[in-house]
Amino acid sequence: MSKASVVPIPANQLIFSQGELGDKAYIIEKGRVLIYLTKDNEDFPLSILGEGEIFGEMAIIDNQVRSASAKTLDDCSLLVVTKDQLLERVQSADTVVRLLLRVLLKRLRSQNDLIVVQPKKKIFNTQKAHQEDKQAVEKIKLEARIANAFDNKEFVMFYQPILDLKTEKIVAAEALIRWFPPTGEQISPAVFMDVVENSSMIIPFGKWIVEKCFSDLKKIQLSHALCHDFSISINISGKQFTHIDFINDVESLRKRLALEAPSIKLEMTERVMMDGNVALDTLLRFDQLGYKLSIDDFGTGFSSLQYLFRMPLDNIKIDRSFVRDMMKDDKALAIVKSLIYLAQSLRMKVIAEGIEKEEEKHLLKALGVDFAQGFLFSKAIPLEELLKKLIPSS
Ligand code: C2E
Ligand code: CMP
Ligand code: CA
Ligand code: CA
Repeated sequence: MSKASVVPIPANQLIFSQGELGDKAYIIEKGRVLIYLTKDNEDFPLSILGEGEIFGEMAIIDNQVRSASAKTLDDCSLLVVTKDQLLERVQSADTVVRLLLRVLLKRLRSQNDLIVVQPKKKIFNTQKAHQEDKQAVEKIKLEARIANAFDNKEFVMFYQPILDLKTEKIVAAEALIRWFPPTGEQISPAVFMDVVENSSMIIPFGKWIVEKCFSDLKKIQLSHALCHDFSISINISGKQFTHIDFINDVESLRKRLALEAPSIKLEMTERVMMDGNVALDTLLRFDQLGYKLSIDDFGTGFSSLQYLFRMPLDNIKIDRSFVRDMMKDDKALAIVKSLIYLAQSLRMKVIAEGIEKEEEKHLLKALGVDFAQGFLFSKAIPLEELLKKLIPSS
């Protein structure tokens, strides 16, 4: 993954000059930057940009030279945004949006030309970023931070035990990613995986997740002979699933480590499963190869059940929200009951996630749920801790 970096630049230093080729844009993390044009040795300020604003994007988007020069007014910290990172966004945009971008950039360039033709009219516009622009900038910043963190190996796989409700023994674990930045707060995987899944980072990232889970599964099996029935659940995103090399990558890795396909469970949401024919073909192929397939967050996707149940699924996982509400809300309980009934009629095993209380466990067991996962048993833990839980002390 391309490395994102923050560069410190002292005050009054040229960042780039008008007319140069450009291969990066910048987001201002600290300080102010002056954007200006030069004509006949005279400088014409266009704008003073501050924290959270982006500049140097035009040359990348319209593949022309820098439309203006940029220099620091204060000691600045600038987050470098790579050409690839920006172009990926532009190229994935709707064709009409791309057309509008080209038109607007052309107009801005010709407006800049007018400014130097009328040299007396010096323009300053104090910028006030819109809420939406701020969010977009935050997203690019987070993307850059994630790419950097990936290179710095700040991501770790944790495992949340899954128990057989009859024996209350750990029979599986769900792999859940954790990010430990050296400084600053932890960010939830629900937040950063959303950003990852919506960028091309998901391919190298997803591959790393699968590799890590497979090598950890191998360690579990090697450390305890009885753990051969143990399976690992890996969350797979839509983009990853429909990527052309996905099956081959997963298969070659599995073979290299001599893992049995039935000990690997691929967990996907209903949305991924409903995503056209590619998904169905891929599911069928994984099924033929012996992998286990599970629907995550079952009951929240509003997908066609008829379609869903034509798929080669082994498990459904009842969403945490139903488990949380079923003791106090009759409707949630009714949903839990019907999901279990549906799954059983189709000979699928049922996992309930998010179990936090003894009474929830008892009720789910009585209703016929097979497997259980939740804070009542354990949160997601590092591999070393999982190994200790799996191997009974003698
Ligand atoms: P998910 O796949 O639905 O994962 C279950 C989430 O529920 C986890 O949150 C887990 O810690 C949490 N959980 C489990 N039991 C309980 C409980 O009893 N009470 C409560 N309050 N929470 C419980 P986490 O680890 O924060 O992950 C959030 C989401 O991030 C996941 O939801 C999944 O969509 C995504 N994610 C996490 N790791 C990965 C990954 O390796 N790949 C992909 N594609 N997505 C991931
Ligand atoms: P780029 O053309 O790559 O390099 C110069 C940058 O200055 C340009 O991208 C924009 O980010 C910024 N820029 C150009 N014209 C203006 C303007 N009129 N007002 C504010 N910023 C501008
Ligand atoms: Ca999951
Ligand atoms: Ca879930």
